[in-house]
Amino acid sequence: MSNETKRGSALPSAQEGWPLLATLAAILTVAALAAFASTGGSDGIRMAIRLTARTSLALFLLAFTASALFRVCPNPWTRWQLRNRRQLGLGFAVSHLLHAIAIIALAVTDPKLFADLGGPNMLPGGGSAYLVIAAMAATSFDRTAALIGPVAWRRLHLFGAWYIWLSFMIAFGMRARLDMAYWPFMAALLGACALRLIFSKSPSFPLLRR
Ligand code: HEM
Repeated sequence: MSNETKRGSALPSAQEGWPLLATLAAILTVAALAAFASTGGSDGIRMAIRLTARTSLALFLLAFTASALFRVCPNPWTRWQLRNRRQLGLGFAVSHLLHAIAIIALAVTDPKLFADLGGPNMLPGGGSAYLVIAAMAATSFDRTAALIGPVAWRRLHLFGAWYIWLSFMIAFGMRARLDMAYWPFMAALLGACALRLIFSKSPSFPLLRR
C-alpha cells in the first residue's frame, strides 16, 4: 500500500479494514431480515432478494471503481475507498451470500413462484457467477492470495470483476427493458465501466492482452 493511500486513515475503527467488513456484514444481515419481515412470506423473501441484489451492486461498484476514482479525483473519500477496496469487495460477497440464502428460501418455500420468476433458468449463469465470487472471496486474504501467486491472483480478480459486471448488466438489463425504474442501475454500471476503461491502471479483460 502506498503512502498516498495510507494518508487520511484517522477514522473510527468501524470504518476501516476488517472492522468495516464486520460492520457491513451486520448492516446487510439486519437490512435483509428487515426487508423479509416487512411483509413476511414469499413477498418478504422477494423483497430480501431485490434488496440484496441492490446492496451487492453498490458494494461491487465501490470496489470496482476504487482505483480509477482515486486516479481521477484523489481526496479523503476516494483514498478511503481505495484503502478499503478489499473489504468492500468482501462486503459484496457477503451481500451476495444473503442473496443466495434468500433465493434458496424462495425455491424451498414457494417453488412455483421461484419457477415463475425464472429462477431455474438463472441457475447456469448465476451459478457460474457465484463460483467466480467464491474464488475471488477465498483469495482475498494475504495467505490465500500468496498461495496462488500474484499472476494467477491478478488474472482471477481482473476476469472475475468483469464477469460480475457482465452478470449485473444482464440481470438489470433484462428488467430495464420492461421497467424504466431500472435505468439508473444500468447508468451506474455503464458509468463504472467507462471510468474503469479510461482511468484504471489495469482496466481491461486480462485474456484479451498478451
Ligand atoms: C443461481 C443464481 C441466481 C438465482 C437463482 C437468482 C434468482 C433471482 C430471482 C428469482 C430474482 C427475482 C426476485 C424478484 O423479482 O422478486 C433475482 C433478482 C435479481 N438478481 Fe439474482 N439470482 C442469481 C444470481 C444472481 C447474480 C450472480 C447476480 C448479479 C451478479 C444477480 C443479480 C440480480 C439482480 C440485479 C436482481 C434484480 C433485483 C431488483 O429487482 O432490483 N443474481 N435473482
